[in-house]
Amino acid sequence: MKRVALMTSGGDAPGMNAAIRAVVRAGLEYDVEIYGVRQAYTGLINGDISLMNSREVSGILQRGGTILQTARNEEFKTPQGQRKALRRLNERDIEGMIVIGGDGSLRGAMALSKLGIKVVGIPASIDNDIWGTSMSIGVDTALNTILDALDRLRDTATSHNRAFLIEVMGRGSGYLALMGGILGGAEVVITPERAPSMDEIATQMEDAYVRGKTHAIAVIAEGAPYTSQDLISYLDRKNLGFEVRVSILGHMQRGGSPSAFDRLLATRMGVAALEKLINGEDGVMVGVEGRDTISVPLEEVTTRARPLTDDYFRMAWMLSR
Ligand code: F6P
Repeated sequence: MKRVALMTSGGDAPGMNAAIRAVVRAGLEYDVEIYGVRQAYTGLINGDISLMNSREVSGILQRGGTILQTARNEEFKTPQGQRKALRRLNERDIEGMIVIGGDGSLRGAMALSKLGIKVVGIPASIDNDIWGTSMSIGVDTALNTILDALDRLRDTATSHNRAFLIEVMGRGSGYLALMGGILGGAEVVITPERAPSMDEIATQMEDAYVRGKTHAIAVIAEGAPYTSQDLISYLDRKNLGFEVRVSILGHMQRGGSPSAFDRLLATRMGVAALEKLINGEDGVMVGVEGRDTISVPLEEVTTRARPLTDDYFRMAWMLSR
């Protein structure tokens, strides 16, 4: 294994740069050339691929985003797109590939592996919805950003006796909403996986008012069955005791300098990914379980969903009283 391509794909996540740096620097140690692919599968199809050097990855460990940039690409999902990508890799004698990204990106990695390129994936998505790893790159930083926002919003909510609906990211997964709710002390958590009815939410908020709370916080995931706008209109009409406001945190959750946890996770995964390729592994993702770095078949990663456990929902409910 002398030439390996590296890309970041899907939604960016804090820590992607730390992973890029780890792969490039580990490449120097093992005498493997690392080729950076710009803008994910779009760059792969267009041949936007160039040799990376150590200086290029200097000073990026602490930077959010990704220096290789990222994209969501439709063409690569077609056989024609995949053929073009394969041709680009063959033109450069690239034998292996490391893909850093979320579930869609890892499905692309699986397709490359089926085409005969040796592939190792690295899970990176703030949603923490990837099967086979307890944590993905970017989750910890995003959660800290959410908690910072939640703490600030609670200050103003308490001062005004208000209820707040705080919308966090997660189109298909409620991990950030659930953890944000538990760790930020929310009264209500609403996720795509489990959502109380609007009426139940109104009752919970009213109860909080009656119990003498000076605020009520509901954390709602972007992918909940109803929107935060629908919910606020409903709650406004209910006259709960609290005035209600909404705050949508949006893409600021994806930016910012990675936490110590994310830098370490990304660094471990970057080095492990290259070592796995060198040792002949193919069609796997690097995962972490406790203190161990493990290999999980991409076949499994791309066909299974990482569920939210009942325990956390129970805890969120129990502690909201
Ligand atoms: O997958 C990460 C994520 O941030 C989701 O939480 C969110 O639903 C989605 O990406 C948003 O994607 P985009 O930036 O393409 O709108």
